[in-house]
Amino acid sequence: MKITIIGTGYVGLVTGSCLAHMGNQVICVDNNKNKIAKLKKGRLPIYEPGLKEIIDSNIKDARLSFTTDLSSAVQASEFVFIAVGTPMDEDGSADLQHVLAVAEEIGDTIDDYKIIITKSTVPVGTAEQVRKTIKKKIETRGLAINFDMVSNPEFLKEGRAVSDFLSPDRIIIGTDSERARDRLEALYNPFCRTDGSRILFMDIASSELTKYAANAMLATRISFINEIAAVCETTGADVDQVRIGIGADNRIGRRFLFPGIGYGGSCFPKDVQSLIRSAAKMDIDLQILKAVENVNRDQKNLMVRKIKDYYQRDDLKGLTFAFWGLAFKPETDDVRESPSAVIIKGLLSAGAAIQAYDPAAIETFKQMYELPIKYNADMYACLEGADALVLATEWHHFRRPDFARIQNELRSPVIFDGRNQYDPDYVAGRGFNYISIGRRSVREANETAAR
Ligand SMILES: NC(=O)c1ccc[n+]([C@@H]2O[C@H](COP(=O)([O-])OP(=O)(O)OC[C@H]3O[C@@H](n4cnc5c(N)ncnc54)[C@H](O)[C@@H]3O)[C@@H](O)[C@H]2O)c1
Repeated sequence: MKITIIGTGYVGLVTGSCLAHMGNQVICVDNNKNKIAKLKKGRLPIYEPGLKEIIDSNIKDARLSFTTDLSSAVQASEFVFIAVGTPMDEDGSADLQHVLAVAEEIGDTIDDYKIIITKSTVPVGTAEQVRKTIKKKIETRGLAINFDMVSNPEFLKEGRAVSDFLSPDRIIIGTDSERARDRLEALYNPFCRTDGSRILFMDIASSELTKYAANAMLATRISFINEIAAVCETTGADVDQVRIGIGADNRIGRRFLFPGIGYGGSCFPKDVQSLIRSAAKMDIDLQILKAVENVNRDQKNLMVRKIKDYYQRDDLKGLTFAFWGLAFKPETDDVRESPSAVIIKGLLSAGAAIQAYDPAAIETFKQMYELPIKYNADMYACLEGADALVLATEWHHFRRPDFARIQNELRSPVIFDGRNQYDPDYVAGRGFNYISIGRRSVREANETAAR
């Protein structure tokens, strides 16, 4: 099958390479010339486990190519995926300018029947807007070219994007065309050979809303457990035990109930806000989601409050913090809306100095935030001479670090853990003062030394 993917970011690149991996002929288009030039040389613009191998092998077998020429790509394809960014507008709505610009370009260039697919996360009604935009352009050209619209939102998780795409929990296809439905089913069948019922067909509006509702539900679980964590801290309960206790109920389940320093990334914050905004435009007040957002905003500031409480002062001048983790979650270099940025800015503005380590996200963080940070390529060297360690992203190799080395490098043995990676008793036994989320703090061991 011949496919064009427009937008070669986290979603477009994974979609394109995984579709090529199944034997399809895929052209990936982007208007960022540097990105395309890099990709043509086999260099990836993002970090995503397993992606490089798939891209390399499909380029080698001539199933995957990259271009800035949207027109030729569209003309050579039956399926045209729109996977460009839909960032947050100033008021929190989804900014559709890239999607609609692409629709105009498709309308200017389409020469034969195509299936146009919105893969970007877009509010209900966007596929119709794209349809109208393309139709209008075709009419302006004095032509009558048939095409179908499909909404096919993406559910991959950064850090596991390739395996999510190759073995999806479900594939949502919203369309009003039998022809498009059959073709999409044929395209996606190889990804669902064990269970074809994972391809779910629905109308376009329901498909568009499913994506927002899914992210809103997941964000709600995170804010919910973060609120429960706050209750744990003041009552002496342990949020780890509570989450295991509630997660044992099948109706609740264990996943997505980890307390922390708030959700970030390019999806949850923007999708929750976009859903709130688009509902408000229809006079629907999404009260739960507004609370979810507020709790999350507070949660991102929680660690700075905890640090100030620990030192019993608002002014952190003279203190240096070693910071482990800049990405918004492990296994990605994505730092958009990362809680780390909020915490680092809070510490810097209180006068502290920061030395930071992340295995994948140092370059992206530098580019996006331009903060006065001393970056370190080594997780232990990053600790040298710091007054405390702040853990903000749960990369696997932070789970069982060399605590003796941490203690040697730090000026005082203090860990602020935003991801509850360690057992409080274990770190206490090794002489650390340890502050985490929703669990008892260990402050006795070296209280005096730490001040
Ligand atoms: N990142 C995720 O984990 C994820 C998961 C599911 C859904 N989504 C959604 O998928 C969409 C894309 O997200 P992303 O993270 O891949 O974005 P991204 O910012 O990484 O990539 C978007 C790409 O589109 C390109 N682009 C913009 N305008 C263009 C145009 N006119 N022509 C050609 N290319 C153009 C940009 O140069 C960029 O390379 C968004 O709507 C997002 O909400 C993202």
